[in-house]
Amino acid sequence: MLVVIKKNYEEVSREAAGIVAAAVRAKPEIVLGLATGGTPLGLYKELVALHQTGSLDFSRATSFNLDEYLGLPSSHPQSFHFFMQEHLFSKINLPAQRIHIPDGSLPGEYGEYCARYEQCIRNSGGIDLQILGIGRNGHIGFNEPTSSLASRTRLKALSRETTEDNRQSFANESEMPKCAITMGIGTILETRKVLLLASGHSKAAAVAKAIEGPITSSVSASALQLHPDATFIIDEEAAHSLTQRDYYHHVVEMTKLFSREKLS
Ligand code: GLP
Repeated sequence: MLVVIKKNYEEVSREAAGIVAAAVRAKPEIVLGLATGGTPLGLYKELVALHQTGSLDFSRATSFNLDEYLGLPSSHPQSFHFFMQEHLFSKINLPAQRIHIPDGSLPGEYGEYCARYEQCIRNSGGIDLQILGIGRNGHIGFNEPTSSLASRTRLKALSRETTEDNRQSFANESEMPKCAITMGIGTILETRKVLLLASGHSKAAAVAKAIEGPITSSVSASALQLHPDATFIIDEEAAHSLTQRDYYHHVVEMTKLFSREKLS
């Protein structure tokens, strides 16, 4: 794993945007795996700016989002459909027919639907570059602690911690989702490249466990230790509990010399 520690959130976003932009330019028909949450907002802002100034074209790209709440229609302001539309898709030229987000409004037949989502990823040639955030409990997508490291896209019950984190976003209790459809850890491990972004003290413990802890289903992000090309781009606050920060800085310096393309 490559661990890139940046001063603050703005630098994290800029570094990630540089890597994503370079990947889109190198392969215009790229298949992107996209995430929601507050963390990738800065990255999306940077990508929109690059697109609007004419230097980034998404017209041949495809995207698959990681997850969606169950029970929310795409018009709901807290749905990930709404989020993606508002912060990215309405502002760039990614063709609507190549945008994929799990459908949270399904009345049933989830197993069949999730298998089709997986098949659709395979039919598109697989995900080239997967963006991830991380939950305070170490989840990626909505793979809550104890998710199988071999899991595929499926219906997943949300943990109490995630539900608590959601509380501020939902006006009333009855609307708060209890489940989500999420790509699995096995699905994420099959992507060709992963960029995990994290910012702030609240993520420090999860980041340290993911990078330096044992691989365990209790911390879903620790499964990324098995990924052949995973980069963590984190700010100093999120890096606070890592014990090998000096070594990670040294690796980044060497990466600049020997594998420049891994950085922005
Ligand atoms: C949700 C999403 C994750 C995201 C996490 C952290 O649970 N399903 O994909 O990484 O929240 O969100 P934030 O970036 O807002 O801290």
